[in-house]
Amino acid sequence: MRTVPLILACAVVPALAIPEANWRQYVRAPSSTTIYPKKVLSTHGNVTNAQGLIQNHGIATLSRPSTNDTVPYIELDFGINIVGFPKISFAGASDNHPGVRVSFSESTEYLSNSSDFTRSDNGQTITPGSDQHAVPSGASDWVDTYGCQHNGTQVCSDGLHGFRYMRIALDALDKDAPYTSPNSTVDIKSVSLNFTAFLGTPDTYTGWFQCSDEKLNQYWFDAAYTNEMVTDHFRATDVDPRDAATPTLEGKLVLFDGAKRDRDPYIGDIAVSGRTAYLTHNISEAAMNVLADMADHQRSDGWIPPASINNYTLPLFDYALYWVTTSWDYVLYNGDMDYAKTYYTHLTNVLDKFYASVTDAKSLLNKGMKGTDGYGDYAFLPRTGEVTYYNALYVEALKNAATWATSLKDTTSADRWTKRASAVSTAINAHLWDDSVGAYLDTSNATAGVRHAQDGNSIAVIAGVANASRANSSLDYISKNMQQPYGNAFYDSALPGVDNTTERVYAFISYFELQARFLANQANSALEEIDRLYGWMSSQDPGVTYWEGIGPGGSKYEQSYTSLAHGWSTGVLPILSNFVLGIMPTGPGFSTWSVKPYPGNLDWASGQVATPHGPISASWTRSSKSFELDITAPAGTKGLIAVPTGSHILLNGRPLASGSYQVQDGYAQLNVTSGGSYKIQVN
Ligand SMILES: *[C@@H]1O[C@H](CO)[C@@H](O)[C@H](O)[C@H]1NC(C)=O
Ligand SMILES: *[C@@H]1O[C@H](CO)[C@@H](O)[C@H](O)[C@H]1NC(C)=O
Ligand SMILES: *[C@@H]1O[C@H](CO)[C@@H](O)[C@H](O)[C@H]1NC(C)=O
Ligand SMILES: *[C@@H]1O[C@H](CO)[C@@H](O)[C@H](O)[C@H]1NC(C)=O
Ligand SMILES: *[C@@H]1O[C@H](CO)[C@@H](O)[C@H](O)[C@H]1NC(C)=O
Ligand SMILES: *[C@@H]1O[C@H](CO)[C@@H](O)[C@H](O)[C@H]1NC(C)=O
Ligand SMILES: *[C@@H]1O[C@H](CO)[C@@H](O)[C@H](O)[C@H]1NC(C)=O
Ligand SMILES: *[C@@H]1O[C@H](CO)[C@@H](O)[C@H](O)[C@H]1NC(C)=O
Ligand SMILES: *[C@@H]1O[C@H](CO)[C@@H](O)[C@H](O)[C@H]1NC(C)=O
Ligand SMILES: *[C@@H]1O[C@H](CO)[C@@H](O)[C@H](O)[C@H]1NC(C)=O
Ligand SMILES: *[C@@H]1O[C@H](CO)[C@@H](O)[C@H](O)[C@H]1NC(C)=O
Ligand SMILES: *[C@@H]1O[C@H](CO)[C@@H](O)[C@H](O)[C@H]1NC(C)=O
Repeated sequence: MRTVPLILACAVVPALAIPEANWRQYVRAPSSTTIYPKKVLSTHGNVTNAQGLIQNHGIATLSRPSTNDTVPYIELDFGINIVGFPKISFAGASDNHPGVRVSFSESTEYLSNSSDFTRSDNGQTITPGSDQHAVPSGASDWVDTYGCQHNGTQVCSDGLHGFRYMRIALDALDKDAPYTSPNSTVDIKSVSLNFTAFLGTPDTYTGWFQCSDEKLNQYWFDAAYTNEMVTDHFRATDVDPRDAATPTLEGKLVLFDGAKRDRDPYIGDIAVSGRTAYLTHNISEAAMNVLADMADHQRSDGWIPPASINNYTLPLFDYALYWVTTSWDYVLYNGDMDYAKTYYTHLTNVLDKFYASVTDAKSLLNKGMKGTDGYGDYAFLPRTGEVTYYNALYVEALKNAATWATSLKDTTSADRWTKRASAVSTAINAHLWDDSVGAYLDTSNATAGVRHAQDGNSIAVIAGVANASRANSSLDYISKNMQQPYGNAFYDSALPGVDNTTERVYAFISYFELQARFLANQANSALEEIDRLYGWMSSQDPGVTYWEGIGPGGSKYEQSYTSLAHGWSTGVLPILSNFVLGIMPTGPGFSTWSVKPYPGNLDWASGQVATPHGPISASWTRSSKSFELDITAPAGTKGLIAVPTGSHILLNGRPLASGSYQVQDGYAQLNVTSGGSYKIQVN
């Protein structure tokens, strides 16, 4: 850091005016938890008045006089991806208990007689892919419920579904006789969904974001909605796979990974979905319930399970590191020092017992030691030995842990973890840098080929492992070698045993690359990548919600199995709030914070972040000649304000005193020691 001489300003060129906040127009959530279809996509066979299901005018009838007649069905579009319990109200039916078979899909691509995914596909087979119901002759309501109407094995349904499209057919399975028959008539009065996820209507938002780029605004609110889709109560009847059910999470609000599938909370995903939650609604308990439950199931060697699946035994190598970073995030955003104290022993055990036990003589984590070679990670990648990704994430976790220790006044542990972070960082730079291409290696083991991955290179930048020249070199390498029209791939060359490695894009890992780009002062390259990645998903069916992964040609990477509403893909939201608007916590519960906008080529941004002390709001405008930032922060907090530097800087209309600010990386930085309103003008 250096102090620049101050040139006094007489006047500042006025910046562009920020429009009145009108972010509510971007909110995607339905207005109530009862959702009706928006349109009839198609009908097949003898169907009358299907349109009656849309505007509530009259009854739709499915007719199939003989089993030899074609199966009649109606395909409905609910207008947006949704999740919950489907309900059909019947006006009546013929008296032979005709069957309906219902199938669901998040995209039209996989809408058929079989759902794109049912939990029966994933272990417990009670349905063949459609949900069955025997319709009584009188008026009746059916709520799709997990289980079987008869005999534990007949006329079965999967229960909760995540979908945008639904097909209702008059048909029955042979095996469901004599309880249903595949013919005659069914009269449907209405079809709806009981939305069980968090209903993020405008009044529930505690934070928001808006800027001069309409597309970015919609991405922010689409990410918010995607995350709402996975914020729900844990119910044994709805989890996926079904054996992920656990009494210690039952009934609690959690952050699932996906809406239709992967309905089990995993720690790694919370690295993104947790921040999205804190920045949108008052739902931080959804993250905390999961983090606390995983810690409560810590293994005696210090390892922390990634999820409740397989009775808390699924062996992942990286997620226990995310437990550290996501726990510290939770404390930073929410100030829950009880959590920080309660789980401090768990923190010590995971770092000093488990990860210390898989560290080799070079100070690097080495997957393979202590029987960990079979451990997986976020993508179950078959890599062993010294892996840049695990080690860079370890550095980040150790740095977070040191800050956590400091907040509890344990300077001994803070020193130990800081020193270890530094040793691991040095070792990564010494053993895992590939000078021939200017990027970090995936692993130090070249036996199976040399590759470079998005995860290790990105997190090395975030964790401060990469210095400025290595950071720029790594990011340039990714741009040149991993670019796709729908984002950046997670590898530069094929990894045996993994399909489509070089064409696969994870928004999850791309979030780390996007952060790295801002930290390396490459805001415009990050905004460009956001447009490719989020622009792609937004332009595809089902729209709005963000996918678990993208495959060759921009396809759904695991076809119909792919979750199209995945919390870990919502990173665009924290990116915009933390970097473009620039608000970040730096101490527990925003006791200290920083506001450092990265404007890129945008003209203005405006928004708010909730803190336990009250909201912090910021807005900035930029022109070729000037930059103006307004901040209001709550009492009892203090922070660092950083603005792109210029020759004249005014604070609340008065020139900044020499020595009261510093210039670093093109930013003028000053500390404010209390809450209140601040206006910084630069020209
Ligand atoms: C379709 O079913 C209705 C009864 O719901 C019947 O009146 C009509 O004749 C049928 N149409 C055809 C073409 O079979
Ligand atoms: C209707 O379905 C039942 C049960 O499968 C069958 O016994 C009956 O023959 C069918 N009737 C016609 C007209 O197809
Ligand atoms: C269905 O078609 C078969 C073959 O043509 C015929 O034998 C049978 O009688 C038909 N069933 C009904 C209920 O019409
Ligand atoms: C869907 O239709 C195909 C082709 O008729 C059939 O093979 C398959 O079993 C059906 N699936 C379900 C779930 O009924
Ligand atoms: C109940 O299900 C079993 C197994 O599928 C079957 O053998 C039995 O016949 C069924 N009982 C009735 C009454 O349908
Ligand atoms: C919707 O489902 C939830 C979860 O099962 C339940 O608590 C709630 O009562 C249902 N709402 C309606 C209107 O049925
Ligand atoms: C969040 O909700 C809790 C109750 O669940 C309440 O005590 C707290 O004040 C709320 N926080 C904000 C920022 O609204
Ligand atoms: C899960 O693991 C715990 C602790 O090892 C054990 O007590 C429990 O019986 C296991 N539950 C199941 C369903 O296997
Ligand atoms: C290096 O990779 C090869 C090929 O994948 C593997 O057989 C070997 O065990 C690895 N060595 C170490 C030390 O992990
Ligand atoms: C970054 O680190 C590398 C390796 O230690 C060194 O060669 C290079 O000079 C450093 N660059 C900067 C800008 O410090
Ligand atoms: C992607 O992987 C699948 C499964 O290995 C393969 O069938 C397909 O051809 C691959 N796609 C491309 C574009 O390489
Ligand atoms: C602001 O605070 C930071 C952290 O306490 C300190 O490193 C920096 O020197 C301070 N800057 C000024 C201008 O006082």
